[in-house]
Amino acid sequence: MNSSAILNTAVTSAVPLPNVTRMDFPSNFVWGCSTSSFQIEGAALTDGRVPSIWDTFCAKPGAIRDGSDGSVACDHYHRWPEDLDIAKQLGVNAYRFSIAWPRIITEPGGVPNQQGLDFYSRLVDGMLERGLQPWATLYHWDLPQYLQNLGGWENRSTIDAYLSYVDVMTRHLGDRVKHWITHNEPWCTAMHGNWDGMHAPGKKDFKVALQVAHHVMVSHGLAAPIIRANVTESSVGIALSLHPLRAASKNEEDQEAMQRHDGLRNRWFLDPLFGLGYPLDIQAHCAEYLPEMLPGDMDAIAVPIDFLGVNYYFPETISAAPQNPPLHTELKLLADRERTGFGWEVAPDGMQELLCRIKQDYPSIPIYLTENGSSYDDHLDQDGQIQDTSRRNYFIRHLDALKQARQSGVDVRGYFAWSLIDNFEWAEGYLRRFGMVYVDFATQVRTIKQSGYWFRDFLQLKK
Ligand code: NOJ
Repeated sequence: MNSSAILNTAVTSAVPLPNVTRMDFPSNFVWGCSTSSFQIEGAALTDGRVPSIWDTFCAKPGAIRDGSDGSVACDHYHRWPEDLDIAKQLGVNAYRFSIAWPRIITEPGGVPNQQGLDFYSRLVDGMLERGLQPWATLYHWDLPQYLQNLGGWENRSTIDAYLSYVDVMTRHLGDRVKHWITHNEPWCTAMHGNWDGMHAPGKKDFKVALQVAHHVMVSHGLAAPIIRANVTESSVGIALSLHPLRAASKNEEDQEAMQRHDGLRNRWFLDPLFGLGYPLDIQAHCAEYLPEMLPGDMDAIAVPIDFLGVNYYFPETISAAPQNPPLHTELKLLADRERTGFGWEVAPDGMQELLCRIKQDYPSIPIYLTENGSSYDDHLDQDGQIQDTSRRNYFIRHLDALKQARQSGVDVRGYFAWSLIDNFEWAEGYLRRFGMVYVDFATQVRTIKQSGYWFRDFLQLKK
């Protein structure tokens, strides 16, 4: 696989900006921003937290591009009141956060850690006091290391450990948190974690990756009834990273390669969720790598959900690559594309296309854009401001695409910008800034960027 190939310079375009306003969306539309525990909390050794696979991974020489780790990150564990104040100031009405499992269950089969529970209680109360609807993600990649020592998601028993943790959390917060996301981007958990090794635990074994994907999806399915039992008026979903795909040429080989890439990137996760099972073309192509399953697993995965979370960043262009097993595909980087500072293609039309495709291929399901955003090389200017015009334009153009998707009948009910604040961008460390708020990691001073002020103005209802 070659999905991490990037260019490192932003390429901007002079496309005129569309006209989109909050009035283009219904009054009950959910407007939020997203973060995740490992990326912002820090306080790695505080109040009984135990190491996660990401603490271990960060300690491996060369694993993180700037050699950094999440031990301090944005120090959100201590600075959360300020961060929630900023979210409120931006005018969002929802906040998507994730819960660090290693703060809650600190040893195999252990009793819940009260200090960890108290932290998330304070955080959720803080959101409610500020009029922010809490959206909790139960797993955003920080698996307790003690579970990895037993095989991690590759070991089926991790499903049981996850379900106990989900039971604890939903009992604890269910009176106040109604929106629950079981998993964030299972593709990344499985494939970056176990196929290309770019993420923790850093394995490079496709068969393991498919086994991990299966266990994660089964754990999602089995978690849903637990959440529903513990939370009145719950709303349960999962956030998938999805990509519109283009073939590099009209050649049959490239077209088929694009289909295979789609099979693993998108359909491997979407189809089972909607009761269609694993895609047959990929089962045939990857026969020797298929996961072990138990009877009932596919029914479990197909549990009805209340919403689908879509994390959208960029489209991918694919060509055939016979030399690249198991999928025999390759990612092509087209030179003439607009790109973010991370090298990711800027394609709002891709978002619209993706949303329309979900509507067409799957049963009607409410959709929330649970992540969308861009990273650029931001700097404080002489006046202490961050003029991140490219990020602002990215938001404008993607919100316009969302508006158009809604106009063509896609049931999108909310949009969460990634991210509230600059944070630890996994294998890239602190080199990639996605925030609407700049964080000076040396001083922990937060500065709202131009894009954040734009978002605030966009959200302000005209009187
Ligand atoms: C996907 C992930 O959910 C999030 O953790 C990450 O920081 C953003 N996308 C940007 O890469």
